[in-house]
Amino acid sequence: MSVKRLSVAVLGIVAVLAMAGCGGFKPTATAQSSSSGPAAPVDGKAVFEKQCSVCHGAGGTGGIGPAFAKESGSQLLTVFPDASQQVDFVTKGSAAFPGGYGATNKKGTGAMPAFSNILKPDEIEAVVKYERSLAGG
Ligand code: HEC
Repeated sequence: MSVKRLSVAVLGIVAVLAMAGCGGFKPTATAQSSSSGPAAPVDGKAVFEKQCSVCHGAGGTGGIGPAFAKESGSQLLTVFPDASQQVDFVTKGSAAFPGGYGATNKKGTGAMPAFSNILKPDEIEAVVKYERSLAGG
């Protein structure tokens, strides 16, 4: 009897240790995958809906800021023939271009915020790509 009880107790301890081991291992695995593994692709549409659609309209139909959707008469690909210029503009905001921005030297009001402190570079890249896809690019 007492041997049986002891083995049950030992099994219990082993089970608890195994669970504790798993719990301790998980955060390490997560940290490793985010620092050394390839980063998960950013959803540009989700970034747009969260950060941009309030001014540029749901689906890029325009509002306080210009439209991006082709159907809404978007000028985006004319203003920024090169995506990297658009990335720079979104990063710095329109206030950083007092003389005008883009290929058409469009005058800004300063109402387009800088996103350098709000979004990570890969999020800016992803949202720019999404906006260009709305514009037919
Ligand atoms: C607070 C309102 C506001 C928010 C939020 C906003 N924008 Fe803008 N955006 C503007 C305004 C206004 C302009 C026009 C430039 C100006 O008046 O300064 C503009 C212009 C632009 C342009 C240039 C388009 C053109 O044809 O001239 C791009 C690209 C752009 N915004 C991208 C973004 C992205 C990407 C986001 C989200 C990450 C975003 N904007 C969020 C207000 C906003």
